[in-house]
Amino acid sequence: MEKIKIGIIGLGTVGTGTVAALRRNRELINKRLGASIEVKRIAVRDIRRPRQVDLPPGILTEAADEIVHDPEIAIVVELIGGIEPARSYILAALRAGKCVVTANKALLAECGQEIYQAAAEAGTEVAFEASVGGGIPIIKTLREALAANRILSLLGIVNGTCNYILTRMTEAGLSFNEALTEAQKAGFAEADPSLDVEGLDSAHKLAILATLAYDTCIPLQEIYVEGITAVEPLDIRFGRELGYVVKLLALSRETDGGIEVRVHPTLVPEGHMLASVREAHNAFYITGDTVGDILLYGQGAGAWPTGSAVCADIIDLARAIRRGKKTRLGPPSFRQPRRLLPME
Ligand code: NDP
Ligand code: HSE
Repeated sequence: MEKIKIGIIGLGTVGTGTVAALRRNRELINKRLGASIEVKRIAVRDIRRPRQVDLPPGILTEAADEIVHDPEIAIVVELIGGIEPARSYILAALRAGKCVVTANKALLAECGQEIYQAAAEAGTEVAFEASVGGGIPIIKTLREALAANRILSLLGIVNGTCNYILTRMTEAGLSFNEALTEAQKAGFAEADPSLDVEGLDSAHKLAILATLAYDTCIPLQEIYVEGITAVEPLDIRFGRELGYVVKLLALSRETDGGIEVRVHPTLVPEGHMLASVREAHNAFYITGDTVGDILLYGQGAGAWPTGSAVCADIIDLARAIRRGKKTRLGPPSFRQPRRLLPME
């Protein structure tokens, strides 16, 4: 059976979930693919740290460059997060003719155009399903399933940590800090959890989604962002008494005047489908001009769901490689200049 070799940079929550998912369903994946996916090397920061998965001896390295420049490796999977050195590894891998899979929404929101362009110039592809929505196939939905639609609006609960904190404050009366500590222990939070609770992680994800929905570059700094740090238990209690649930929403809407993109805590009526999204689950309520309303729901963070999305991208790219190609969809389009409406 043909072997497709991959290298993974980062073996934290998502890297561990990815390796575990590839291992758990190895035979099924190989049968579906008609080839086997072999993890050749895994780069980490500290090779001596204990790991959550059993690994063959010698597979770990602290030199991510070895992976990026290994001629046998066809797909590089970046799971370290942050801008540098992730950006440099990805650009080097693309320029070396490799396909790339990443879950790094911060990087794509800030440097997406540069990365997509580098992939296009190299004739390869960067796949990023895991960057938004954990295990929910929201990127595929926007790029493929809804390709014939104008996206009129998108309402999303896109940050598992914030939704977890708000749920635990509402249902168990936990303090903000107690709930955040639980979310960190479960592996939902970013290495710097202020990215979650101050709304920037949601803004990163919204920038990626709105770019796909409206075929335009959505600059991060033009998204209105307000996180959940100012939400008090009293706000939650008064909201409940009036029939509302507090949720951190990411919203984009197309209007005659331009596009609105914003992230802020919102009072959602108890009867709305988004009100029942609990803990670290995410949901996307999308209205397309052709399809009407659709709702995607599932686990938006954590090792297994995110590992599932990373593996799906690896398999997609491996299928293309099996057909002698290095691209599946090509880069997102940025062809439509659009006006972003300021927050009133
Ligand atoms: P973690 O902090 O759990 O893991 C990061 C991993 O990267 C660690 O294994 C670390 O090594 C390794 N690493 C860091 N810097 C380097 C470096 N310079 N060279 C080699 N290895 C390095 O992060 P997560 O797994 O949570 O997140 C990874 C990415 O996935 C991020 O972009 C995040 O935003 C995204 N994401 C996370 C989700 C989640 O639920 N956690 C969900 C969706 C996306 P070591 O172990 O030795 O410290
Ligand atoms: N920290 C992120 C969250 C991880 O809580 O949603 C998933 O992107």
